[in-house]
Amino acid sequence: MESTPTISAAEFAARRRRLLDQLDPNAIAILAAAELKVRNRDAEYPFRQDSDFLYLTGFNEPSALAVFIPGREEGEFVLFCLDKDPLAERWTGIRAGIEGAMTVYGADQAFLLSELNRKLPELMSGRDAIHYRMGHSRKFDQQVMSWLNTLRGRARTGLVPPNKLVGLDVLIHDLRLFKSAEELAMMQHAADTAAQAHTRAMQVCAPGKFEFELEAELLREFRCKGMEPAYTSIVGGGENACILHYVENRGVLQAGDLVLIDAGGEHYGYASDITRTFPVSGQFSAPQRQLYQLVLDAQHAAIAAVKPGNNWDDPHQAALRVLVTGLVALGILQGEVEALMQDPVAAEGEAQTEAAYKQFFMHKTGHWLGLDVHDVGDYKRDGAWRTLEPGMVLTVEPGLYISPADNVAEQWWNIGIRIEDDVVVTEEGCRVLTAGVVKEIAAIEALMAA
Ligand code: GLY
Ligand code: MN
Ligand code: MN
Repeated sequence: MESTPTISAAEFAARRRRLLDQLDPNAIAILAAAELKVRNRDAEYPFRQDSDFLYLTGFNEPSALAVFIPGREEGEFVLFCLDKDPLAERWTGIRAGIEGAMTVYGADQAFLLSELNRKLPELMSGRDAIHYRMGHSRKFDQQVMSWLNTLRGRARTGLVPPNKLVGLDVLIHDLRLFKSAEELAMMQHAADTAAQAHTRAMQVCAPGKFEFELEAELLREFRCKGMEPAYTSIVGGGENACILHYVENRGVLQAGDLVLIDAGGEHYGYASDITRTFPVSGQFSAPQRQLYQLVLDAQHAAIAAVKPGNNWDDPHQAALRVLVTGLVALGILQGEVEALMQDPVAAEGEAQTEAAYKQFFMHKTGHWLGLDVHDVGDYKRDGAWRTLEPGMVLTVEPGLYISPADNVAEQWWNIGIRIEDDVVVTEEGCRVLTAGVVKEIAAIEALMAA
């Protein structure tokens, strides 16, 4: 396999610098790594590092703790980690240890986790404010309180407890929202691999196959690149395509149905997130073609609205206008487009009802994408939708889902369609990272006929 992109040590250091520069000069920030989680009895889930922790340290071991202390003479970045232990490492894998924490991961100082309860109150002493992610983990909340109480109890020895608790999420998340060149290379690789996986699934699809057989093709493409799925892949044929988070993937694919695949890969934490919908037997029926083209037109309109200066909601509104206009033209919705796009205004004393289109299109047109599939970062600032800026990465994923329970003509039943691409905002507009897998009707039919 060719070499794949990575994040350099210099970039991790630059991220920490940016965080440290945003902290009050006399604050301390504490960030916990993820813990191993039991799946059943002795078996654990594969370890996945906490995304904030990964972003700032690149350190991929469980239970560690990173501390950021601006202006501290002995070092501003302190890492607590597990000790080297040949016996334990024989069972669970190599650890960096405190040497590796400094030489490989750039910590100015490193201590063993066993020293945490002694050392951390000392590091906190004399600082005005503690930044940490409040309320994420009961265990960590309690730990912070216990370190504070230790400090209070030792005040007579000259230790001085901080008197302010401040959040940490927003500071890190606003950094994460803007992707660097190195991050975009990671995400392009994740996107290319996922595009290849979707292409492969289209190529092997045939009536009579199980949904999980297509899932297996996706997994094969991810694992052959050393990647994991970024989330549980959705492979839904026919009516299953109308279940938004369908992950059973046990149905049999039927000739004449559409199949919806939502699957992305993760490269060193960086996610891709692609959805394609295609006919099981390679040819769209007339009603499928009409609805598919409508969703595709909506997606094109939304992508055209991803540009600097537009706000977060503009792509959604662009997609919605195309979808509602099309649904009216097809007789699936009745009324005026402008009015249909709004939630009805409730009369006084009456319950708020939802716009009729939400029966068929019940999610937003996208989300931020990065180290988390639904990535961090505010969607609104001061009550207004956030302005799009170069370096932000988002998905564009309009859809339509029509079930027999909906009061529409039978020809539309059990058609579930979503088309999802990942795009980065550029100076001029946006670049589609996931262009490596086809989505135009003729291109899908040609690929599946080949
Ligand atoms: N795959 C999750 C999503 O599209 O949001
Ligand atoms: Mn998505
Ligand atoms: Mn998706």
